Amino acid sequence: MSDTLTYTPAVKRATDAIYARMRRVVPEIEWPVHAPYIARINALKAERNAVILAHNYQTPEIFHGVADYTGDSLGLAQQAKEADADFIVVCGVHFMAETAKIVNFDKTVLIPDLRAGCSLADAITGEDVRQLKARYPGVPVVTYVNTTADVKAESDVCCTSANAIQIVESLGTDRVIFLPDEYLGHYVAQHTDVDVILWKGSCEVHERFTGAELRRYREQTPGIEIIAHPECPPDVLAEADFVGSTSGMIDFVDRQRPERVVMVTECSMSDNVAVEFPDVEFVRPCNLCPHMKRITLPAILNCLEKLEFEVTLDADLAKRAYGAVQRMLDLPKRKAA
Ligand code: 13P
Ligand code: SF4
Repeated sequence: MSDTLTYTPAVKRATDAIYARMRRVVPEIEWPVHAPYIARINALKAERNAVILAHNYQTPEIFHGVADYTGDSLGLAQQAKEADADFIVVCGVHFMAETAKIVNFDKTVLIPDLRAGCSLADAITGEDVRQLKARYPGVPVVTYVNTTADVKAESDVCCTSANAIQIVESLGTDRVIFLPDEYLGHYVAQHTDVDVILWKGSCEVHERFTGAELRRYREQTPGIEIIAHPECPPDVLAEADFVGSTSGMIDFVDRQRPERVVMVTECSMSDNVAVEFPDVEFVRPCNLCPHMKRITLPAILNCLEKLEFEVTLDADLAKRAYGAVQRMLDLPKRKAA
């Protein structure tokens, strides 16, 4: 194994074109470390008939080096549902891998590190949802996809940050229970007439941003566009020029081509997006998601070599969770119809 992980002339040839794309965000001195892993992972991926889905928060050497599909939580769920490969490797956090299993139950879903959690998914249990339903009988439960399968199984419909408002409004009720992200729920409540019952969960990465920090960016960098993820606190979103999911933020940069932009979200996003938009200057605040950063090239290689770690779910639980996820995935089709 060790000689395959050396930066040989053959590895260089196999990865030069990949490096050319990301040279602005990956220092040249680091490349001989990443390149042998990238070459090996891409070869093994083909041998195993595996597909790699990577979230927008993965580091550039994963995002641009080995991923077949990249995207936000909604995009990854859609890709997972369509995936035809024998193995679906999710480079993201555990709830994303669980969602892949829920929508494509017959496939083997792997995650390179089982410890890749999420503070939002940890904020609520299925039992909490059962108690809420008893307290608010008949009020539909809208659950952020950043939750365990147990919680999804108790919910009427899931949402992501890309479609939360649309999902809440689609239910046609005066009131909804929105779980578990208090800030996303608050943002939804501000943009609908629906009464939103909130839960006190938060993202440990986005809750650290402050409105004062954003005002400083504006003062220090005149003309800067501030774009923020809706998991941020309300005073942060109030300062933002645009609020959207991780893929929504990428689309914004693509459409508007701002001269300077700050993406108020996890660190790696700006690096990944900067590769695609060399004319845009990215101001880079750095709040790392420690869970996303559990996924590394060595962990992905190990995952493909040993076919670990498999994400499994009880079939009955998965079926109940599927109802809530599928209702979300169906929504745009229903709207278009
Ligand atoms: P997106 O669905 O916007 O990619 O968000 C997922 C996430 O975990 C953000 O912290
Ligand atoms: Fe969870 Fe926040 Fe990390 Fe996203 S950034 S995976 S919401 S802890």
